[in-house]
Amino acid sequence: MLEKVRPPPGADSPIREAVPLSSLLSHAAGPLRGTVSLPGDKSISHRALMLGGLAVGETTITGLLEGEDVLNTAAAMRALGATVERDKSGVWHVSGVGIGGLREPDDVIDLGNSGTAARLLMGVLAGHPITTFMTGDASLRGRPMNRVADPLRDFGATFICREGGRMPLAIIGARDPMPITYRLPVASAQVKSAVLLAGLNAPGRTTVIEPQPTRDHTELMLVHFGAQIDITHDAENAAHISVTGQPELSGRPVIVPGDPSSAAFAAIAAAIVPDSEIMLTGIGMNPKRTGLFTTLLEMGADITLRNERTEAGEPVADMTIRSSRLQGVTVPADRAPTMIDEYPVLAAAAAVAEGDTVMLGVGELRVKESDRLDAVDRGLTACGIRATAGKDSLTVHGCAGSPAGGGTVATALDHRIAMSFLVLGMATQKPVTVDDAGPINTSFPGFVELMNGLGADIRPGTAA
Ligand code: S3P
Repeated sequence: MLEKVRPPPGADSPIREAVPLSSLLSHAAGPLRGTVSLPGDKSISHRALMLGGLAVGETTITGLLEGEDVLNTAAAMRALGATVERDKSGVWHVSGVGIGGLREPDDVIDLGNSGTAARLLMGVLAGHPITTFMTGDASLRGRPMNRVADPLRDFGATFICREGGRMPLAIIGARDPMPITYRLPVASAQVKSAVLLAGLNAPGRTTVIEPQPTRDHTELMLVHFGAQIDITHDAENAAHISVTGQPELSGRPVIVPGDPSSAAFAAIAAAIVPDSEIMLTGIGMNPKRTGLFTTLLEMGADITLRNERTEAGEPVADMTIRSSRLQGVTVPADRAPTMIDEYPVLAAAAAVAEGDTVMLGVGELRVKESDRLDAVDRGLTACGIRATAGKDSLTVHGCAGSPAGGGTVATALDHRIAMSFLVLGMATQKPVTVDDAGPINTSFPGFVELMNGLGADIRPGTAA
């Protein structure tokens, strides 16, 4: 029934009044209606800039996410010697230096809030014989980097970190990197990617053994740029992913799909605000990213896909979501890597659903931009919703309708906590306040304007 979707005035207009992002209040929303496209995929955007910077010739990137995280990667690649420019039409052009050709930056590289930028660049730099100093904001400086530094030391790189492998850190890249084989101790696409990127400048094959599948954008994009990637599976079904070192990467056009992790906020808002119907166009549908949509369907969400296609090696579709009654479910641990960034907003859907939603195997949420299990637990409690956070699990006791709301939620420099609770506020009896919405710009510039264009009511301020 896509024909029924009618964008309200302004929903598709690029000109929207900017709402200042400090403390925001999300009021109960009327039905959400309209058709929107989402900003580009963050994971793919980082990788396109990095591989473009390592390739020979020009890479054009259409639909790059222009959020702070990705802009920090663009600045880092420039500081390392690549040419990175945006033209007037919004297409980005990267002229690379070739593998091994990055130059020593003359100042500290600041990656802001972005764990992906930091960890993937650590991989790239481990294979370059240069010294780089790296830092980030208070959130990033608190996150564990040894999970990446440890395997990268085996290539011959040296890392000097603060206690606990924390930033700021110094990287002295290997002069003659040696290929390694590394079994991932944690399901992390960032660790996998860092090792594969370091392997680019090591002679021979570098192999990552991945017991639990994680997002494969690095592998797909390496193939797109001309590298050789071989994947086999062992008797336990672990993937052995090998990159053959020292390939010639050639600049390529990259089309970045809409970010499914950003689509999750609009999708859940439409699912929980009565009488809503929205369409999200051009959303990335990589099966290693779509666990949230599987879970929502199990909860009884009304989601249909149209126009399924492949763009630059990535599956893409248009998605329609209508509101419906949701039931609590148990989300199995093995699904976690396919929806790792979506649990905070799933908690908003779970709060409105009937019955308990149990999320298993989610311990990694404790080392994201914030301790997300703790942040979600506290935020739900502040809004009158019962939740239980364990070491590796989260249970939300659904209200079977509109939760009380009225709480103030500390976002702790975490964009996804801010957006998740603004979505929750669209369906609560009293408005929900988030104390600091500034981090939203790291991944979803224009979030408030886009949601308000669909019918949400998010305004600056705090509850009286
Ligand atoms: C990402 C991988 C995930 C995810 C992050 C982006 C990536 O992190 O949470 O937002 O682009 O590789 P982990 O690898 O730590 O799970």
